[in-house]
Formats: sequence, C-alpha cells, structure tokens
Amino acid sequence: MRRKRIYEGKAKVLFEGPEPGTLVQYFKDDATAFNNQKKGTITGKGVLNNRISEYLMMRLESIGVPTHFVRRLNMREQLVREVEIIPLEVVVRNVAAGSLSKRLGIEEGTALPRSIVEYYLKNDALGDPLVTEEHITCFNWAGPQDLDEMMQMALRVNDFLTGLFLGVGIKLVDFKLEFGRLWEEDQMRIVLADEISPDSCRLWDIKTNEKLDKDRFRRDLGKVEEAYQEIARRLGVLPEAGPLDMQGPKVMQ
Ligand SMILES: Nc1ncnc2c1ncn2[C@@H]1O[C@H](COP(=O)(O)OP(=O)(O)OP(=O)(O)O)[C@@H](O)[C@H]1O
Ligand SMILES: [Mg+2]
Repeated sequence: MRRKRIYEGKAKVLFEGPEPGTLVQYFKDDATAFNNQKKGTITGKGVLNNRISEYLMMRLESIGVPTHFVRRLNMREQLVREVEIIPLEVVVRNVAAGSLSKRLGIEEGTALPRSIVEYYLKNDALGDPLVTEEHITCFNWAGPQDLDEMMQMALRVNDFLTGLFLGVGIKLVDFKLEFGRLWEEDQMRIVLADEISPDSCRLWDIKTNEKLDKDRFRRDLGKVEEAYQEIARRLGVLPEAGPLDMQGPKVMQ
C-alpha cells in the first residue's frame, strides 16, 4: 500500500491517515541524542514505544486529558488526529537530572522541593533553547491562555503519571510533552500530541535508582533494549507477554 509520507523525524514517521484530519504515526527503532550528534538504533524500541505511548495516552484520556491518540493500528503504527504542533517542548521535573543538573550544578537525583515546568523552543538549528513565558508570548509561539492551559495539563499529567509509575516501582524523574492545536468547527482545543515513552521520560527503578530510559543510550550504559522492555513489562503492555499478561500494570510491593 502506498501512502503519502508527511514528515520523517528522528524517531517517527508521519503518514497521511485514512480519513482527513488523521495521521499514522510510525515508530522507528532509530535513536538520537545531544541534538542529533549521537545516532544509533535500539532494537524493538519502536514496537515498545508504540505500546507504551498508546497505554499512557489512553490512561490520560480516561481521566479527561485530551490527546491526539485514536487507536493503535499494528505493532509499529498508531492512528492520531492531525494537529498544529505548538513549537515548544514542555518539560516537567520532579528530580534533578540532565540539563537541569548540568546548567545549575544541582546533583543528579536531588528531589526538587516542588515540580518545575520548563519550556524549550523546538528548533534543532538552535539546539532547542530554554525559553521563558515572556519569549513565548512575545514571539507568539503560544498565547498566555494557551500557556496556562499547557502548564495545567502538564501538571495534571505529572500527578497522574507519577502515581501510575510509582505503582509499578518506578520514579518519574522528568518528562517532555508536546501539545498541538486541534480545530473543530472554528473552535480550537489544545491536546497532548507526539509520544510519551522512555524516549521522552526519565524513569528510575524506585529501589535501585537504575535508569530505565533513553539515558542508557545517551550515556552508553548498555542494556538499552532491556530497559525499554522492562518499562513495557511493568506497565503490562509487553507484546510477547500474550493477552493474559496484557491486562494492566503489575503492582509491586
Ligand atoms: N498529532 C500530530 N500531528 C502533527 N504532528 C505531530 C503529531 N504528533 C507529533 N507530531 C510531530 O511529528 C514529529 C514526530 O517525529 P519525531 O519525534 O521523530 O520528530 P523529531 O525528530 O523529534 O523532530 P522534531 O524536532 O520535529 O520534533 C514531530 O515533529 C512531532 O512534533
Ligand atoms: Mg520527537
């Protein structure tokens, strides 16, 4: 079957969907880090991220967070609603790690007294710079109301996912969200788009602090595939596990 390729990114390909206003999101095994300077593949990542993102987006929908997700089509593809992506990466942090630790000298693993929301401009040529609400509204990347809505949604997602991951023995250290505008009869809604997966979250085992996310790739820690599998397994969405094992998260004591 031939279909129109709309966009090829680093981790996913977007195809024209079967109905107007829809897209097919194809999850690749390709991985990049440090603004494309490090490239590689993580075998099976696409299959796992497709499942993990499906599961998390569905759970978020069920608590009333609007998302672009429609349904999973097959091992590597999901049907989503086409949105106009807001050119920001919204990052929520609960524990210091990554660029926060590096820029501000806060030791990785330090629990933050309260969750922090940050905005980065989606611009690879500039290295996705950190921007403030003033920059965002000044250059009209989003309006003050949009920003407020995104922040509220990001915090709600954080509360829900923190609890969900805690239930399966995982600490949600930080994560990145993308939002998009959805037009319905002249009405605009902001919905969660892109993906939520170990590519876009930092996930540490609650007991050992072992990293179970893309940092294993970024820092050459090994066992990268295994980490993604472990997240899928704990969420109860590991494809190989079969239908009996795919009924939801396993609670850890
Ligand atoms: N529902 C949607 N409608 C339109 N675009 C979307 C939707 N969900 C995600 N996208 C966009 O599709 C692309 C997904 O591909 P991928 O994640 O591989 O991109 P990327 O290499 O990270 O590049 P980018 O800098 O564009 O995010 C991203 O540009 C993302 O913003
Ligand atoms: Mg991306």
